[in-house]
Amino acid sequence: MISSKPLDIPCSLQERKVLEKIALAAHELGVPAYLIGGFVRDKLLGRKTKDMDIVCVGDGIALAHKVAESLGNNIPVSFFKTYGTAQVKWNELEIEFVGARKESYRQESRNPEVSAGSLQDDQNRRDFTINAMAISLKDMDYGSLLDPFDGIGDLDRKIIRTPLEPAQTFSDDPLRMMRAIRFASQLQFTIEATAFTAIRENAERIRIISQERITDEFNKIMLSPKPSVGLDLLYKAGLLKIIFPQMIDMVGVEMYEGKGHKDNFYHTLQVVDNIAENTRDLWLRWAALLHDIGKPATKKFEPGHGWTFHGHDAVGGKMVQRIFTRMKLPLSDKMKLVKKLVELHLRPISLTKENITDSAIRRLLFDAGDDIEGLMMLCEADITSKNKAKVKRYLENFELVRKRLKEVEESDRIRNWQPPVTGEMIMDTFGLKPGRIVGELKSAIREAILDGEIPNTYEAAYAFLLEKAGALNLTPVK
Ligand code: CTP
Repeated sequence: MISSKPLDIPCSLQERKVLEKIALAAHELGVPAYLIGGFVRDKLLGRKTKDMDIVCVGDGIALAHKVAESLGNNIPVSFFKTYGTAQVKWNELEIEFVGARKESYRQESRNPEVSAGSLQDDQNRRDFTINAMAISLKDMDYGSLLDPFDGIGDLDRKIIRTPLEPAQTFSDDPLRMMRAIRFASQLQFTIEATAFTAIRENAERIRIISQERITDEFNKIMLSPKPSVGLDLLYKAGLLKIIFPQMIDMVGVEMYEGKGHKDNFYHTLQVVDNIAENTRDLWLRWAALLHDIGKPATKKFEPGHGWTFHGHDAVGGKMVQRIFTRMKLPLSDKMKLVKKLVELHLRPISLTKENITDSAIRRLLFDAGDDIEGLMMLCEADITSKNKAKVKRYLENFELVRKRLKEVEESDRIRNWQPPVTGEMIMDTFGLKPGRIVGELKSAIREAILDGEIPNTYEAAYAFLLEKAGALNLTPVK
């Protein structure tokens, strides 16, 4: 009786039930089956996981169909005949089935030549020892851990190591170089020295990997608890200069007349870590990554003054779309958010000076809109001074800015505000077609309200419009 046998990994009741069904189906088909890969690793680490990978010595698609049948009526199986893989979704679980494989790779592609193999062949071709562990679903040793490369020891020692010769593993599938660094960053593990050397030596081969896959791994690094771990490894491995050259332009300190500026690369890494402590939002983390990306292009040494980066906010903002396009990141509202935060990241600092008017606060609320909280988070993360007293003072200043923002927002409701006289109203009033004059009148009204020159009411705005239009010799048509 399988169900009375214990498993070598902790599983929920539901997971146990599914594994028993898979074991039974495999038994009926006469194919040895195993649970393998990330699920085993994550269970042993006590991490959440919902993707099960099942490998069987036989036809994975046939096993998937049999399992789906036994789980209930009409459970669909999606399968890819060419790859011999199948997927079954059941409740929150996603179960992947594949036949055990032996693989050999060609130089120019990451698509392997595949043939059927044993469990051991399949474990050999996996990327890391911690991902090659399997749990047997066979009658005779149901539930036991099959760990030929001491993955469990590596979990304990917190090491990323390849089952075979590292150069072979990475050259076979260069995406694994990104994966090694991603796991190191996610799990806070160390990449074994020989494996890291192999990554450095094979870095160029990352070029055969599709941008989507690279970006997927990059984003996992960005979402890890301390993204600087992965970002710094990407740099040291020589991968960053291939996948993200603009970041490399930020590396290093230039000296002139005995004066240096800070290393913008390591400053940025610190800012990303700082924001990661407060948010899991990928796009706020991206804004932190790109906030100073305009610095290399705007760097100047001004005699008597030192290093300056005038306009790096605007230049950086312009670079965002190009970087998103190259990285195949979505060119959606998310990109607009990142661009906006990069452009605005110096504004709250300027509001920490004395005698700041309500109108400056109102303008920032108008420009940032609902993203004001993200912007404040970015500014606070941007404080990377080692001097504790300074950090405290800067944070207190931002606290005051937050207070002022709150007060002005409560009285003026400017965040999602639209001026009370719209473009259509202007066109109707003067019989104008869309064009430059309408735009100018509209922005004159907006500016006058933001500056506090006129109150935020329809009457005041309309009177102001008539006056402005009069100066341009425009008269109302009705
Ligand atoms: N694998 C591999 N080489 C790759 C990708 C995957 O050897 N380039 C193997 C590993 O054994 C891995 C398993 O396939 O554990 C499943 O891959 P995947 O689902 O992509 O990754 P997980 O390890 O499950 O991790 P995560 O879910 O965090 O991506």
